[in-house]
Amino acid sequence: MTRDTTAYLREKYEQMDERGETWPLKQLQTASQARPVVEGREVIMLASNNYLDLANDSRLRTAAVDAIEKFGVGAGSDWSIAGYTELQDELHDTIAEFKGTEGGLSYQTGFSVNAGLLPQLLDDGDVYVSDEYNHGSIIDGIRLSPADTRVYDHSDMADLERVLQSVSSEFNRIIVVTDGVFSMDGDVAKLDEIHRLAEEYGAMTYVDDCHGEGVLGDGHGITAEFGLEDEIDFQMGSFSKACGGFGGMLAGDQHVVDFAYNTSRTWLLSAGYPPAVAAANKRALEIIDNEPQRVQDLWNKREYFQSELEDLGFDTGQSETPIVPVMIGDSNTAKQFAERLFEEGLFALSIVYPMVPRGEARIRNQINVGLTETDLNEALRVYEEVGRELDII
Ligand SMILES: Cc1ncc(COP(=O)(O)O)c(C=O)c1O
Repeated sequence: MTRDTTAYLREKYEQMDERGETWPLKQLQTASQARPVVEGREVIMLASNNYLDLANDSRLRTAAVDAIEKFGVGAGSDWSIAGYTELQDELHDTIAEFKGTEGGLSYQTGFSVNAGLLPQLLDDGDVYVSDEYNHGSIIDGIRLSPADTRVYDHSDMADLERVLQSVSSEFNRIIVVTDGVFSMDGDVAKLDEIHRLAEEYGAMTYVDDCHGEGVLGDGHGITAEFGLEDEIDFQMGSFSKACGGFGGMLAGDQHVVDFAYNTSRTWLLSAGYPPAVAAANKRALEIIDNEPQRVQDLWNKREYFQSELEDLGFDTGQSETPIVPVMIGDSNTAKQFAERLFEEGLFALSIVYPMVPRGEARIRNQINVGLTETDLNEALRVYEEVGRELDII
């Protein structure tokens, strides 16, 4: 039965589908890992955020299972309402230690840090200064704030300075907010320059390190990479990327953490994740800390993959990290490209509008340290074949 009231949504969906802007969902028959079984066959995984291959690591599994045995599967309620376990306290201490800050806090997701905290940090008469390529969760969080917003051209420090100049006399408080690693292009924010400019204009700084943890700064993230652990006011991140698990994190001064969980509606008014998640997350941070070689291997593999793609004639855009896009342009061509890759045994995602501007569709590859040299060579062989077939190289 088709209801008239919602028929317009079907039309909108069909138009999106015609433009190649809908999401084809795929079912995994194994854990997410370097070579999972997807839609019935083993593929090379290039679509997950599981950079350090920890999502199915036996040590995280053991930590989670032990926690389930002790604390069960549900948090029971929101952490603010019905309490939490020692596992969260331990995780919060581990986050602070890992990030080199006074305080640490975990949230239900990375999205919920940005969507819950950004609305609370500034008031009417204040302003957010935001990179144009910031993640959607930052955009949503800022939209919910009573403060104004000014957007600067992506990673353009001259434009950031222009914006800071123009807002400095008009507004009270200013926060410059940026992704650390930009999730669609894999480039790294110029955090040293952003911090210098922010200091010069009396602004605070907020960095989203979701794709930096486990990757930059020997795994400790972008503030460690730039030696700015004590300088960035608000450091948020995620356990759902290199840490292989689930959940968001915040690091900063203890009073920032106290303010954050007492005001973020996402933290206060939504159920906590299961205790087992906290146990696995803590284990992931310990592994990253103790196994720098794992992070180095990831870098070696991404260097190899990107340079070989470039040698084949592909455009990998601004990539500087294990996020290695292959620029295609048209959305439908990008989707067709991803489908052909999948038929040949590669799982890599086509990224289309609204994730990126129209005309800038791409295939996003994300390197997983569990991929062997043979896997990467096979992936490159398939890329060459499909690239020639679709006239991209
Ligand atoms: C830059 C950035 N920020 C925030 C998030 C949200 O993180 P989570 O998956 O933990 O909700 C993501 C995930 O897509 C991201 O890429």
